[in-house]
Formats: sequence, structure tokens, C-alpha cells
Amino acid sequence: MEEQNLESIVLKAVGAEGSIQDSGEFAQRCNIEDHNAIVGVLKSLESYDFIVLKERSNTAYKLTEEGQSYLEAGATPEAQVFTAVRARVSDPVGIGELKKDLGAGIADVGFKQAMQKKWVAIDKSSGKPLVVPKVEVIEDTALAVLKAIENDPATAQGTNASELQQMTKRKLVALKKWSSYEVTKGPKFALERKKPATDLTAEMIQKGTWKDQEFKEYNFDSFGLIPDGGYLHPLLKVRTQFRKIFTNLGFEEMPTNNYVESSFWNFDALFQPQQHPARDAHDTFFLTKPSKASLDKIPSDYLARVKDMHESGGFGSIGYGYSWSVEESQKNLLRTHTTAVSSRMLYKLAQDGFKPAKYFSIDRVFRNESIDRTHLAEFHQVEGVVCGHGLHLGHLIGILQEFFNRLGLGSKLRFKPAYNPYTEPSMEIFSYSEELGKWMEVGNSGMFRPEMLRPMGIPEGVNVIAWGLSLERPTMILYGIDNIRDLFGHRVSLQTVRNNALCRMGM
Ligand code: PHE
Repeated sequence: MEEQNLESIVLKAVGAEGSIQDSGEFAQRCNIEDHNAIVGVLKSLESYDFIVLKERSNTAYKLTEEGQSYLEAGATPEAQVFTAVRARVSDPVGIGELKKDLGAGIADVGFKQAMQKKWVAIDKSSGKPLVVPKVEVIEDTALAVLKAIENDPATAQGTNASELQQMTKRKLVALKKWSSYEVTKGPKFALERKKPATDLTAEMIQKGTWKDQEFKEYNFDSFGLIPDGGYLHPLLKVRTQFRKIFTNLGFEEMPTNNYVESSFWNFDALFQPQQHPARDAHDTFFLTKPSKASLDKIPSDYLARVKDMHESGGFGSIGYGYSWSVEESQKNLLRTHTTAVSSRMLYKLAQDGFKPAKYFSIDRVFRNESIDRTHLAEFHQVEGVVCGHGLHLGHLIGILQEFFNRLGLGSKLRFKPAYNPYTEPSMEIFSYSEELGKWMEVGNSGMFRPEMLRPMGIPEGVNVIAWGLSLERPTMILYGIDNIRDLFGHRVSLQTVRNNALCRMGM
């Protein structure tokens, strides 16, 4: 029955009789099978004050699937067993045979019940256990209960409490609670409900009908439609968060728009010795075409100073004492860290006339690593650099603490001494993931060595503190993702991107 129709039936009934005693009875009387449909209409009318509802709780017996199947078969398993056994009274069989005839399920249940009811017995006189009838006729009382319930679910008239209880115990019947309603007139009762308009149309304005038109009120509690596009990947959201933190702290973004870098800026400028394992093809992707950077891209006087520093040191350092190769420094690679960009920026800063500065960058880096739950061959690095007079490790710890505070991860931060060729001292940064229940390394940091800064022309007395984080790790912590491949790469499910929280609160 249509909703509109049901509504007018209900309104007419309440209008004529002043009330409806019970919506359940009413549904039966009107031959409305689905009581829920009536309830829907009643609730809607109530919300417009057309009627007032008073809830009543009821119980009803309901046949389970099993109960329903016996009703449809026209006999309970025990009756089926009895009939089969009775039919073979002169040639009795064992349980195995009954199972073949009736099916194992029916035979098992039926035999057990029939034994209890003393309809059948086991006769072992022939040496084999055979099932024999104990009575002439039976009355399938359980079936009678099922029928009674079908006819009258509310009280199952004609049955008694213990029979009903047994049937519930056998899980053939369940007792269900349900609500019906007493209906009386509400303050705005009328025999017809005009649907209020949801939109103000041009026509209403032209004809002036808007004046008498009733409009539907806005429902500010309803959820809006979920837009179909425009979802941001968690990495983009966390990148935005990082960017905001950096810019609020007065940092300037470095230009990171070159994935290809020469070994010179990626390693040599950072005082990373040419035989360092990180410069091996196992750790770094080298380019085959063009395999080398042209020398005019690298300032020759600076290159000479870097060579000197590697070979024989200076500014109080003894250098590495090996023969530095310019060809090695020309090798092109996919940058392994954005610290390559920081070295270019610091060189430029020294050339332009040093001023204290704060730089950051967030972009992609590449490492020839074997891929696992926490490692990818390409990922994003968040880099911060602060240069000024008299900076020390306390400043580095302080600024990292502030940085993680603003990210919401500040209460669970740890530093561990580490080694980098270009920083001294150096510290690894660990952050605790509540959701994953473990400490995760999120980055590395330190104070750039004079061996890196002085050849650039950064003045004495100036210190540079710096750090590099992966963007992926804090994102995993913030979003509770424990496999990096679910965050980045071809395995990422678009649905996850859609379902991700808009923002995550820190702990
Ligand atoms: N470049 C380092 C890395 O890739 C991070 C780092 C940056 C460490 C700056 C110290 C200073 O892990």
C-alpha cells in the first residue's frame, strides 16, 4: 500500500473515531500486512503534530526457519520418524537405515524426540539395535503448536505455556518484542496533510502563491550528500599541515623542482666521502642518460674548495685524506634526500651575503631500497634548515619539540645519537604511535659540519641546524596505517582515501 494512501487511512480513522486503540490491531483490521509501514506513517504524522503516539510494548511468537520448515513439511521430525518406523513394524530397521530414508538431520532430531516421547524404542533382541514403535498412534503436538503460532502469533491460542517453552528451547519458536502505538489527535490534526514545499520556485513568486504556501523546515541535523570527487590523499593533508606549521614559524619554502641531481650537490657538497656506502648503486639510483652533470653547472672555485676539504681538510678539520674525483661528483642521480636542495640554498645564501634564514621543503626523494612494510623506493621528505649565529643542539631539540607539538605528536618524542657525514652532533628522531603501539623512527637531524658550511662561504660563528623527516611515517602514525604500501603506490585503495578522516587530532 502506498504511503500516501496509508496516511489518509490513518487520518480518516482517527478523524472518525477520535483515536486508534492499537496500531497492531488496526493494521490487522485493515489487512495491512506490514505493521512497520504503518509505524513509518505514524511517526511522520507525529512529527507534524497531526497525531500523538503512545508506545505499547508487545510480544509475539515467531517461527524460526527450522520451525517454519516443519510446518511446511506438515510433520515434525519425531512424527516423520514415527511414521517411518510404524510402516516397517514387521520388518524393523536400524537408525542408519532411517537416516538414509529421512535424511540425517530429520532422523537424528526425530529419533531423539520420539524416544523422549516414548513413541519408539530400541529392540536389541535380534542382536542388532532396531527401532520399533511403542504406540499405535501419535498426536503431533509440536506441529499443533507451530500451527497455533502461525494463526495467532500474539498468544498462540490453544497451546499451553510448557508446550511453548519447549518449542522455544528447541529453537523452533522465538519470542519477539515489538512496539505498537495508541494514536490520538494532535494539536494540528487535519484529515489531509498538505505536503509543505521544499523549494521556492519562480512560479510561486510570479503568481504570488508563496504567501500562502507552507514550506518545509530546514533539517540542520541531516547529513549532507557526500560529494563524489575532490578527496585529498592523507599525504597531501599532512603535507598541508606541515606547510602551515613551517610558514607559521617563519620558514621559507625551498625550490625542490628537480628530481635529478648531481652527486656533487647530493653528496660532495655535504662532505659525504666518495667511497661512502650510500653512494653505491645499491643505495642510489644513478642516471644512465645523461649520466654526468656538466661542469659549468658547478661553480669552479667552490668545487675546488670542496675537493680541498675532502682531501686535506681546513678550518680545523683534517679532511678524509683521499684523492677526490671530479668525475665521481658529476654522476647524475635521483636525489636521495632533499638535503641536496638545502646545500644549494646554503651556498646561494652565502653568495648573496649571509643573513640568518629559515628554510623548509617537502618533496620526493628516491632510494634504491628493498620494499617492505615501512620502506619504499620513493618517498617524501620534510626538510627544515635554520641558520644563524650561535645556534646549538638545544635550539635543534627545542625547535623539533615545538614542531612536533604543533603536529600533535609532541608528548611522545625521543632523540637518539646518530651519525651523518654532514652533521655533528646528529640525532635520530623517534615518535610513538599509540595506535600501532610502537616507537617509529620518523627522521634524522643534526648541526651541519663546518666542513660542509665553510667551503660554501658561510661565515665563522654561524651554525646551521637541520632535520629531515619522512612525510610518510608521521602520516602513518596520525592515520594509524601500519603498512606504507597502503599509503603510497599502486596498492592504495581509493576507498580508503575517500573514507579517511578530514582531520586527525593529536594525542
Ligand atoms: N638527509 C637526512 C636523511 O635523509 C636527514 C637530515 C637532514 C639529517 C638534515 C640531518 C640534517 O635522512
